[in-house]
Amino acid sequence: MKKNININFQKAGKFEETRFEKIHNITFENSILASKLVAKEIAELIRAKQKENKTCILGLATGSSPILVYAELVRLHQEEKLSFQNVISFNLDEYYNMPKKHIQSYHYFMHLHLFQFIDIKPENIHIPDGMVSKENLRNYCLDYEQKIESFGGLDYQLLGIGRTGHIGFNEPGSHFNSMTRSITLDFLTRSDAASDFFGIDAVPKRAVTMGIGSVLKSKRIVLLAWGNKKASIIEKTIEGDISSDVPATYLQKHGNTTFILDNEAASLLTRNKTPWLVKSCEWTPELIRKSVVWLSNLMNKSILKLTDNDYNTHGMSSLLAQSGTAYDINIDMFNHFQHTITGWPGGKPNADDTYRPEREFPHKKRALVFSPHPDDDVISMGGTIDRLISQGHEVHIAYQTSGSTAVSNIDALKFIEVATSFCPSKEESYYSTLLTDINKANATEAIWNLKKTIRQKEALAAVRHLNVPDENVYFLNLPFYETGSTKKAPLGDEDIVLVRDLIDRIKPHQIYAAGDLADPHGTHKVCLDSIYQSIEILKSKDYMKECRVWLYRGAWQEWDIDEIDMAVPMSPDQVLKKRNSIFHHQTQKDLVVFRGNDIREFWVRAEDRNKETAQTYHKLGFADYEAFEAFKRYHF
Ligand code: F6R
Repeated sequence: MKKNININFQKAGKFEETRFEKIHNITFENSILASKLVAKEIAELIRAKQKENKTCILGLATGSSPILVYAELVRLHQEEKLSFQNVISFNLDEYYNMPKKHIQSYHYFMHLHLFQFIDIKPENIHIPDGMVSKENLRNYCLDYEQKIESFGGLDYQLLGIGRTGHIGFNEPGSHFNSMTRSITLDFLTRSDAASDFFGIDAVPKRAVTMGIGSVLKSKRIVLLAWGNKKASIIEKTIEGDISSDVPATYLQKHGNTTFILDNEAASLLTRNKTPWLVKSCEWTPELIRKSVVWLSNLMNKSILKLTDNDYNTHGMSSLLAQSGTAYDINIDMFNHFQHTITGWPGGKPNADDTYRPEREFPHKKRALVFSPHPDDDVISMGGTIDRLISQGHEVHIAYQTSGSTAVSNIDALKFIEVATSFCPSKEESYYSTLLTDINKANATEAIWNLKKTIRQKEALAAVRHLNVPDENVYFLNLPFYETGSTKKAPLGDEDIVLVRDLIDRIKPHQIYAAGDLADPHGTHKVCLDSIYQSIEILKSKDYMKECRVWLYRGAWQEWDIDEIDMAVPMSPDQVLKKRNSIFHHQTQKDLVVFRGNDIREFWVRAEDRNKETAQTYHKLGFADYEAFEAFKRYHF
């Protein structure tokens, strides 16, 4: 079976095992096609078992990774008559002390995404019960394990992977032979789940999970990992040594495991990160930049000090052969990076612009800054906005979503209480409704709008600090986000129209947008898609031919040095001014709801990352700046 399956996958995905890789893995362009093929593999197994009149024992996972696989299985059932009558399922895990009906329970998840749509027999569904009493828990876990055994063990185990390296909820420290049991969740796992629970405090601390030993007994294992936030743990799992610190590395011992990855999740594997170490390369300008930065870091030397020997002994002799000498490559690269640095993000008047990131004309440019949430603008490019304004450009800021979900009830309550104290007839007032609503489990429209207003006012204060006029600030409130909950709708025509019309009205010479694909909810990606799609519609217009699109990275990440096309320096005073601007986003300070796993506040992260970029440039041999904001140009 393994052979057929791998052929199927390998035709569609990219399969190149290197000496560093200890687990069979296949990379796909994105998770959509990959998920369909995984569903196909499962369907083929179910059908093969049906032909033999046998049951098919599936181990199932929850989380964001398998959602598209389940969607495809549902489609196969509805459109291609795939029956689940012979399927017996065992889910990996459940939060402990979690009622089945709770919307964050894995029971709820499985019914929501799969079971309610297919013909699996209810008695064949097994999901650990998160409400078993402490006294009965041990026996319950033994029973769960024995039940799997009684059906002859798992035929197929579908897995996701946590950023701690957990599979199921087997957190670091889990033993190779561990069986179904209760476990304490790692802080990182809990913080990854925090946004679904509206804050980390509400995330359960314990769970019941099948063990590593239980999983490894499965005849076939397929692990899914999507997106760049999984890249680091995927690299450790596939290339690292087996260790209880990264429980997924135990899969290296399983003979029939395949990891299905998208490009981003696979991006840190040696063959992608430093391909010159494992194969002969086609030396594109991008690859040359990447490799020279890497070599300079590794040798702890500035670019101009790299020697022929450094190149030759680090897998880059073919580059040397192609380019001449180390000196030629070094000079070329030095000039390239030097030319990315500019204190004139809108172009420098009366200066030769041949090698500058931005052209000189027109001297006064219109810049349209898109900010997915009301704060990404100042966090990621507060210093650049300040420069654009002080250099005489017209800056417009468009907040794409309202950011309502990220205002805590505690903060909202403060605003209601202040407003209430100014309201004479408190009893029947609008404010008393808000005071009742704030305690409801799901946000009412009134609370949603209140939170939206809070974020709007904070955003206005923040950009006023940089002298952006109020009339140049727009709140698009894109409909895909305005669902009243953390679950968002897909990007629709109405969203595109709002973005497109604004671009068309302003006719900008520059568009700035968040190119960050790593935010916890994927909102940035949707916002970026809305801009890309709008540009696609508008690109034949004359003004668009003169428009340059610059991507900043977003609050969670920075561009790698080799990806940067424009680096805008900040003086210590500008760093301080930017910090004070970010401070106006008061509800996003301290106990912010969606901070991801990084516990630093946004202004600290921004400052650290801007300083780090400057230090990295300095180490490569460039002047010693205080901080840099970085941009990558998007060519359409
Ligand atoms: C889910 C489970 C977990 C998840 C992992 C990744 O049943 O056991 O191991 O697979 O936490 O979660 P996502 O897919 O949401 O990134």
